[in-house]
Amino acid sequence: AGRHGLQRQMLKWYACAGRQLPWRQSRDPYRIWLSEIMLQQTTVAAVIPYFERFTAAFPDVKALAAAPLDDVLRLWEGLGYYSRARNLHRAAGLVVSEHGGQFPADAVQLQKLPGIGRYTAGAIASFAFDLPAPIVEANTERLYARLLGLQLDVRSAAGQKQLWAFAESIVSTERPGDFNQSVMDLGARICTPTSPRCSDCPVREYCGAFRLGLQHELPRKPPR
Ligand code: ADE
Repeated sequence: AGRHGLQRQMLKWYACAGRQLPWRQSRDPYRIWLSEIMLQQTTVAAVIPYFERFTAAFPDVKALAAAPLDDVLRLWEGLGYYSRARNLHRAAGLVVSEHGGQFPADAVQLQKLPGIGRYTAGAIASFAFDLPAPIVEANTERLYARLLGLQLDVRSAAGQKQLWAFAESIVSTERPGDFNQSVMDLGARICTPTSPRCSDCPVREYCGAFRLGLQHELPRKPPR
């Protein structure tokens, strides 16, 4: 019961407050995949011009697969973590050679491609194909740890297990793509690492951390 109320509040908030981002203008799995790879170690503001240049040069996965690696690396220059660009090019080749140029609409299949882990597979499956796949990344991890009132170290195996199980249980089956984008945006804008804006939060009535006054304490990340 609580799950549906939380989903409704999240989707309502996202409709008004969600960010307009270039990769959200379409459901093209190629664009969504590319944006997620670029965003792995880089901020949204830094990614936007790279995303625009890259998609102009390589408008689809076939164009990327056919391009020489050096051209791909040149467009990546400045973004750093060049293994991302090498994996991107390899994955494009595999999508063309193994999947007929279509990204598989399946989080398990997607994870077999180089550079695509559990989070990125869930992002592509939900944003592009509207499949109810869970996501946990930095923003959702913080939001979910607080909603759960999770006392475990979020980096521990047990903590990660609980976060992924919660993500799976909470993802909307009706609008999984919008729901997952809404949790990322709420994490980025409201449920921030320091000074979370609980008074503006649409789901504070569902939040274990808020109820216990622990929003500044959670998520727990003991020094390594
Ligand atoms: N960070 C990683 N993926 C993102 C997305 N789809 N939107 C905004 N920030 C992100």
